[in-house]
Amino acid sequence: MASHSLRCVTCGAVQPPAAVPSTCPACGDLRGTLDVVLDLPAGGLRPSDLGTPGEGIFRLSALLPLPPGAPRTPLRIGDTPLYDAPRIAARLGVAAALVKDDGRNPSASMKDRATAVALAHAASIGCATVAAASTGNAASSLATIAASMGIRAVIFVPRTAPAPKVSQMLLAGATVVMVDGTYDQAFDLCASAVRRFGWYSRNTATNPFLAEGKKTCAIEIAEALGWSGPDVIAVGVGDGCVFGAQHKAFTDLSAAGLVRSVPRLVGVQAVGADPLARAFEAGAGAPEPMVPSTFADSISVGIPRDQVKALRAARATGGALIAVTDDRIREAMRLLAADLGVFAEPAGAAGLAGLLDLSARGGLRPSDRVVAVVSGHGLKDTAGAMSAATGSPLHVSPDDSALAALETLPR
Ligand SMILES: Cc1ncc(COP(=O)(O)O)c(C=O)c1O
Ligand SMILES: [Zn+2]
Repeated sequence: MASHSLRCVTCGAVQPPAAVPSTCPACGDLRGTLDVVLDLPAGGLRPSDLGTPGEGIFRLSALLPLPPGAPRTPLRIGDTPLYDAPRIAARLGVAAALVKDDGRNPSASMKDRATAVALAHAASIGCATVAAASTGNAASSLATIAASMGIRAVIFVPRTAPAPKVSQMLLAGATVVMVDGTYDQAFDLCASAVRRFGWYSRNTATNPFLAEGKKTCAIEIAEALGWSGPDVIAVGVGDGCVFGAQHKAFTDLSAAGLVRSVPRLVGVQAVGADPLARAFEAGAGAPEPMVPSTFADSISVGIPRDQVKALRAARATGGALIAVTDDRIREAMRLLAADLGVFAEPAGAAGLAGLLDLSARGGLRPSDRVVAVVSGHGLKDTAGAMSAATGSPLHVSPDDSALAALETLPR
């Protein structure tokens, strides 16, 4: 494990290592999110310091800010498959396309990486109750991993959270507070409750340990590619924490001497919920809040809480924050399912949707090796999946007349 300090992303002030995660008091919650700065060995790290691929993210403890002996979930987190997708590469006009299937985590989204690290931290400082606001996935992840560790979870979700995600939370025994409002309102309510009741906060962005968990996705990608490449990583963006964390992975890997180049990072929003893409396009330092509207519920965010790190990730890597239509996301869901066999929820397909848009406007190079991160599983939102499906079932009677109907099918 690596010892660490916490530094404000805006003013650079080093914060005392608070027991309960928080932000820089001078810069506030939105602008004063904290970077975890790892104290790495002077000689850097070797690949063998990162354990054996397949054992899950805690094998990466040399790059994680956890105290020795911090309690861990027994669930296997991370080390998800990275699939070669030649038909998608041909469609994009690039040398190689890879798909990181992070829907293969215990609660079926990449949020488990973050929750596992945050709950190890919470348990190491003796917190018994952890709270989070969420569009749905962070909440079902918190419920799942808290259950595995005997920690109480209190969850704030908007009433629009898809039923499969809510069923995960209830079955895992979490207290679910359904807020009659937007995710952004649920977030503010949860933040007030955390302050009043002293719970440990798993709220995105304001807990710097979450990005430390999410960065393990890009570490696994770089490792799988022999520490060289890819050229582009694309992922869906709501609050921007997942996206900023992929940048943090390469910051740490560069500091550890494990990589020499950093991919262009492409963060993908939906056009109805694209404050970060607009700010990027305008060269602005901060996004304008908006009332979000997209069928991709996990990225339906109007006030991006990890805005500083997200804009930094796009700008520092020569990447971009872009917005795609809901129909483009549906197209990406169909491609992932039909050309690869990977079932993605809408936000999980947003990364590939962004690559499709970039390809259409000449934003990818023929030599590029690109990675689309599928950040959530399709069964998380079956209504969203049905809205992307083009075919419909053949309806037949359970008798011989069905065989006649099947005559026209290919043999
Ligand atoms: C499946 C999925 N993809 C992408 C995201 C975007 O993550 P962030 O809000 O950190 O930008 C989320 C967040 O809930 C998610 O659940
Ligand atoms: Zn500050």
